Amino acid sequence: MAFDVAAVRERYPALADGYAYLDGAAGTQTPVGVIDAITAAYRSGIGNVGGAFPASHRSDAIVAGARRAIADLVGGVPDGVILGANMTTITYRVADALAATWQPGDEIVVSRLDHDANVRPWLQVAARAGVTVRWAEVDLPAGELPVEQYKALVSERTRLVAVTAASNVLGTRPDVASIAALAHEVGALTYVDGVHATPHMPVDVAELGADFYTTSAYKWSGPHIGAVIADPALLSTLSPMKLASSPDSVPERFETGTAPLADLAGVVAAVDHLAGLDSSATGSRRERVLASMAAAEAHEQDLFAVLLGGLAGLPGVTRYGYPARRTATAYFRVSGMTPREVATALAEHKVNVWDGHNYAWELTGVLGVRDTGGAVRAGLVHYNDRSDVDRLLAALAAL
Ligand SMILES: Cc1ncc(COP(=O)(O)O)c(C=O)c1O
Repeated sequence: MAFDVAAVRERYPALADGYAYLDGAAGTQTPVGVIDAITAAYRSGIGNVGGAFPASHRSDAIVAGARRAIADLVGGVPDGVILGANMTTITYRVADALAATWQPGDEIVVSRLDHDANVRPWLQVAARAGVTVRWAEVDLPAGELPVEQYKALVSERTRLVAVTAASNVLGTRPDVASIAALAHEVGALTYVDGVHATPHMPVDVAELGADFYTTSAYKWSGPHIGAVIADPALLSTLSPMKLASSPDSVPERFETGTAPLADLAGVVAAVDHLAGLDSSATGSRRERVLASMAAAEAHEQDLFAVLLGGLAGLPGVTRYGYPARRTATAYFRVSGMTPREVATALAEHKVNVWDGHNYAWELTGVLGVRDTGGAVRAGLVHYNDRSDVDRLLAALAAL
C-alpha cells in the first residue's frame, strides 16, 4: 500500500488557500484531474446525446463512461446506474415508482439514524399509498443502530427497508449486510444510503445486500451529480413517470431531461482519481478502487484517532456517539457556545467545519440538539492531513 497524502493534496488547487477543510461530509474539494476533464469536455465540443455527428457521439461516450465509473466505484453493472442531479432527487423518483407497487396494509422500515433524504421521501409516499411505517431506533448515547430490532420490525408485509451505510453526523456504520439479510428473508427490498459511506471505504453493493444503493459524486471529489445503483432487472419492473418521447430503456427511464454532460466527464475523472490514491495498486480500475479506498480508509482512521483523542482531552467538549465502526466524522458541542459560534470562531483560525442538524433530522431530534443549533461536525476525507487535525484541536483549545 502506498498512500502519500502530500502528493494527494497537491492535486487539489483549493487546498492551497491555507484552510483546513474538515467539511468534506458536506462536500469535498475537487482535484485538478476532475476540473480538467470538465473543461476538456466543453473544449472538445459536446452535443446532445443520440445524434448522428461526432460531438453527440462524444456525449454518448461520456454518459456510458460515467455509468462504468460508478459501477467500478461501488460494484453493480453500468446499466443499473441511474444518474441524476443529486441523491435526493433520484430517491424521490424511485420512491414514487416503488410506492406505485405497494398496497394499503403493506409496511416499510426506516431508521432514525438516517439523513432525511432516506426518510422523508419514504414517509411521504407511504402516507399516500396507505402503507404503515416502522422505525428502527438508535441506541443513544452509543450512536449505534442495533440489528436485533429488525427481527421484530420486518414481517411478510414489509416491502422496503431503507437504511444508511453510514451516518453523516455520527459516522456510525450499521451492519447493513445483516439488516439486508433479514429484509430479504421476508422478500423486502433494501434502499441503502451510501452518500456518506462511499468516500470513506471500499464499497460492494452485492456484499451489502443493497437492492438500491445511493451515492453523490460531490462527496468524493467529483461534480454535483447523484446516482442510484440497482440491478437493471429490478429497475425494469418499475414505471417512473416520464415523458412519452424519452427513452423507456433502463436506466434511462429514471432520468429526466438533459444530463449535465461535462460534469459527467468529471465523474469519470473523480473515480480515476480515487483509483489512483494507492499508487502501488494494480489491476482493473475496480481492483485499484478497492485497494485505494482501503488505503484512504486506513489513512483517515489513523488521523481520526488523533482527532478523537484530542477532543477527549478538551474539558468543554461533549461528543455525540461512540459507535464501534464509523467513518472519520465527529459531532460535538462546546459548552457555553452555540455550534454556529464555534464554527465562526474556527473559521477565524482557518478551519472549516459544519454546524447544525446536517439534515440528520430525526437523529438530531432524538439527540435533543436539533432545535438548539445542532452541533459541530468535523470530518476527515483522504486529502486531510495531520496539520488539519492539529489546527482544529489548537483552535478548540483556544476558544
Ligand atoms: C448521508 C447522506 N444522505 C443523503 C444526502 C443527500 O445527498 P444529495 O445532496 O446528493 O441529495 C446527504 C447529503 O449531505 C448525506 O450526507
